[in-house]
Amino acid sequence: MAPSFDNESSLFNFVVRDGNGVKGIVDSGISKVPQAYIQPTAEQIDKKNASNCEIPPIDLSKLNGPDHDEVVNQIVRAAETLGFFQVVNHGVPIQLLDSLKQTAHNFFSLPAERKAVYRKEVSPSPLVKYGTSFVPEKERALEWKDYISMAYTNDDEALQQWPIECRDVSLEYLRTSMSMVRNLLQVLLENLGVKPEDSMIDVLVDKKMVNMNYYPTCPNPDLTVGVGRHSDMGTLTILLQDGIGGLYVKIEEDSEFGKKGEWVEIPPVPGALVINVGDMIQVLSNGKYKSAEHRVRTTSTKSRVSIPIFTMPNATAKIAPLPEVVEKDGNALYKEFILADYMKNFFSNAHDGKKSLDFAKN
Ligand code: OGA
Ligand code: NI
Repeated sequence: MAPSFDNESSLFNFVVRDGNGVKGIVDSGISKVPQAYIQPTAEQIDKKNASNCEIPPIDLSKLNGPDHDEVVNQIVRAAETLGFFQVVNHGVPIQLLDSLKQTAHNFFSLPAERKAVYRKEVSPSPLVKYGTSFVPEKERALEWKDYISMAYTNDDEALQQWPIECRDVSLEYLRTSMSMVRNLLQVLLENLGVKPEDSMIDVLVDKKMVNMNYYPTCPNPDLTVGVGRHSDMGTLTILLQDGIGGLYVKIEEDSEFGKKGEWVEIPPVPGALVINVGDMIQVLSNGKYKSAEHRVRTTSTKSRVSIPIFTMPNATAKIAPLPEVVEKDGNALYKEFILADYMKNFFSNAHDGKKSLDFAKN
């Protein structure tokens, strides 16, 4: 029998509590989005008002050749302005990228009860969480997105605890992308005048998480968002997106790049990965590198998948702007804090642009 969504709580129970997700609403055959998903006008995305980000993907294979300096400049400049860039020749096999996208579609096509076992209240593993929207209990309007999140501790635990349907490709994705992440961090830190030891990079990427995001087709894409405006809290995020498009990044007010305050779309590029700077890098660099504000639109024609890897320090780590940078700048824009406290603040509030960074401001 088709569920009835005649009041907010029956919808919430069906989507969130019972683990049917947004996919469950769509499969029930609705013709317009429920009220709970209608964004305030200011958050709705006007597709016609955004341009494409025309910056070509950075060829990472050139980092070890005669064009080394040029590639370093491209990475640094992207991190200082938009906080987003795309990379090719990144070391992750193209075939694996295709398998990941296929795996995400397969996973979300499973019957609701197979996914719902991983809801955080009942998940058999503390590493695995299936959910919908970001913080449904706190949001004025829900996000049109379901996800499965797999935290990495070590290979054994991942092999035992991650959902069998996503496990192998996700682990391979993590394995093949980490040396690229380390190289990027090396470049970014060296440019700050820090001679990064391997141990420092180990700390920055100590925790890793692979997510699979699923954005079902939406009957009213103009009224909803896939993900609301936010920045990622960690170190660097690696994102695989499919060919649908709809990922937008905000150009910061104080950026020299493009029109300030405007949104640009990161166009899908076959074989490329998207990299974005997280809040921790903005803090460490004392604001030099920009943790990018971004959001995702929904579409009415096809469901979209994306597969991010989030990297971050251990929750017990003390975070503060790097002394080398503060010395040069003359003042620290951010205070020292424990990452766990930052995370607690981040994950207990609805997405609200870069407000997350206020927690760390001096
Ligand atoms: C995220 C995110 C973007 C996308 O998961 O934090 O911003 O394209 N995803 O799905
Ligand atoms: Ni994000």
